[in-house]
Amino acid sequence: MLNRTDEFLEDALYIRDLAKKHNKFFEESIPLIASENIMSPMAMEMLLTDFGFRYAEGLPHKRYYQGNYYVDLLEDRVIDLGRALFNSKYIDPRPLSGTNANMGVLYAFTKPGDLISTPALSGGGHISSASFGAVGFRGLKTVNYPFNVDEMNIDIDGTIKVIRENKPKICWFGQSVFLFPTPLKELNDVFNEVNCKVVYDAAHVLGLIAGKQFQDPLREGAEILTGSTHKTLPGPQHGIIVGNGSEEDWKKVQRGIFPGTLSNHHINAMAALGITMSEHLEFGESYAKQIIKNARLLGEELNKYGFKVLGEKNGFTKSHTLAVDVSENGGGKYVAETLEKCNIIINKNLLPYDNNKKSMNPSGIRLGTQEVTRIGFKEQDIKYLAELINDAVIKHRDTNSVKDDVIEFKSQFNEIKYCFGKYKPYQYVEIFK
Ligand SMILES: Cc1ncc(COP(=O)(O)O)c(C=O)c1O
Repeated sequence: MLNRTDEFLEDALYIRDLAKKHNKFFEESIPLIASENIMSPMAMEMLLTDFGFRYAEGLPHKRYYQGNYYVDLLEDRVIDLGRALFNSKYIDPRPLSGTNANMGVLYAFTKPGDLISTPALSGGGHISSASFGAVGFRGLKTVNYPFNVDEMNIDIDGTIKVIRENKPKICWFGQSVFLFPTPLKELNDVFNEVNCKVVYDAAHVLGLIAGKQFQDPLREGAEILTGSTHKTLPGPQHGIIVGNGSEEDWKKVQRGIFPGTLSNHHINAMAALGITMSEHLEFGESYAKQIIKNARLLGEELNKYGFKVLGEKNGFTKSHTLAVDVSENGGGKYVAETLEKCNIIINKNLLPYDNNKKSMNPSGIRLGTQEVTRIGFKEQDIKYLAELINDAVIKHRDTNSVKDDVIEFKSQFNEIKYCFGKYKPYQYVEIFK
């Protein structure tokens, strides 16, 4: 019988073992979740530093605690890197996540009871811009833009009408299923007419924007851009706000983050973000180009195999993401679970016309090419991936046999690309002895 201490050690070792097994599982899997990525070796190192154990409330050089000499130098440099990457006046690198960035901006520009316009959840909108998410937490009302399924984008005329009739305090854009650029330029007149703030949630497409391969929202009518820094920008789980408006507005945004929606920011993650941004300045363009090339090709290949890939009219996607209607292949839940048995990791997803479907069993799946591109997938690899997906879902090949092929195939991808230094991804780093 173990004494208490040993029992607790056993718990701790059990958790550590889960982490090791999880790493191994991802080493042997093909990760296609559109909201994830892996970090570079130098960025990853930052997470283990003492920065992670300190408080630095407030802004650089105006802190409440001592001990922030190097933190201030770090934050100054991270802000400079962000301004260079996004060609912007202002950067706030403190939000702990994309949701936190959104909360800070909502806090800055609205009061409870205000109305804002947002993408509908069924049109790919994110829960943080829904009434049961951050928007509701601020006590706001929402009105949604109509969606055009053929274009896989918000409907321009309908959106103009919604904005004109409702005069929202903020016109909010950006989705979690973000296939095509938002038609901001076409909406500029109505933005001016109703005198709203224009906020663009770039969580998904941040690295594509920074790599100059998507749209440039700050030059197309948005004043504020928010984002997660761990999707197409391959950094830490963290958030960022980018601004190009007035100084007065920017001060409100900064107060929306601290003290509005957080006290301390996570300094180790901010350091990792700085390194990610320096790498993206160096490699971001070629990385973003390859991500999009891979996504479009995967769309074409799956379409050839008979999958109903949405957005066909416009080449399936102009981002990292694909949306596929699998209602005739067993539904989103079945397909996602079948692929997981083959070590191909995707998520089920609601589609714009899934009005009566539950989010736990929608008609669609969502796939993203940013992580496989990061480990070196090129055109021939994407073609083989489409073949494996076809084998599992349409041909109903035995999942164990597909899984064997996936493990064998994945073992060829042993290096993180588009970053400084060399590192074999998904390896467990041992510190405990
Ligand atoms: C459009 C959009 N906004 C915000 C978020 C939230 O980001 P985070 O998970 O960093 O809070 C997501 C997450 O996927 C998203 O898709």
